[in-house]
Amino acid sequence: MTLDLKAADYTLSGLRPFPVAVTTTHEGRSNGLMSLSAGSGGIVPEAPRVTISLTKYNLTHDLVLASGIFVMHLLAATPEPAMEASLKILMGLGGSSGRDGDKLAQFDTEPGVTGAPILRDALSYVEGRVVGTLDGEENTIFLADVVGAGKLRDGERLRIGPAWANLPKEWIEQYEANHVPQLESARRNRGLVD
Ligand SMILES: Cc1cc2nc3c(=O)[nH]c(=O)nc-3n(C[C@H](O)[C@H](O)[C@H](O)COP(=O)(O)O)c2cc1C
Repeated sequence: MTLDLKAADYTLSGLRPFPVAVTTTHEGRSNGLMSLSAGSGGIVPEAPRVTISLTKYNLTHDLVLASGIFVMHLLAATPEPAMEASLKILMGLGGSSGRDGDKLAQFDTEPGVTGAPILRDALSYVEGRVVGTLDGEENTIFLADVVGAGKLRDGERLRIGPAWANLPKEWIEQYEANHVPQLESARRNRGLVD
């Protein structure tokens, strides 16, 4: 039986509508990326956990694996000018790799309880200390205890639909070009190509 890829995509895509900014630091090197993989990692309200999935191709993956700490931020859609600040974070962290230069220098940050940088222009955040990892060949799925959290402003959470609609066309083209080698690397790590 052939796999119905259309049905798989229909079922799986868009399950997590909130883009999050993930930051971390290891031995003096701070970095961050955008992710659509974040989720709650447990049901115990007084001891929350968070999960994220990071692709091995990305520098942030290596830094979180090495440090065991990260901050996961929600971005704001409202009130004005929150959208502008949120898109600046999305484009700054999600469009290029920290391997090519310091992406966090342009943002206002402060160290959290783990030492990882909190983005002051975000809507809210949780800080995670990793308690478990799952090696997914192309990625690592991290499960972390929430050891810090904060609400930085009032406003609505930014969803990926309105974010894409407001992103400049040139940036989207650059993002899609950057995605090609990442996908190739993922296929190689899964043993799907040579
Ligand atoms: C909306 C959006 C969602 C993304 N989701 C993920 C994700 O879940 N996991 C991941 O590793 N990268 C994800 N990325 C890609 C990284 O953010 C991107 O490759 C980044 O440039 C990596 O930077 P780094 O090498 O400095 O870590 C996403 C990017 C965007 C724009």
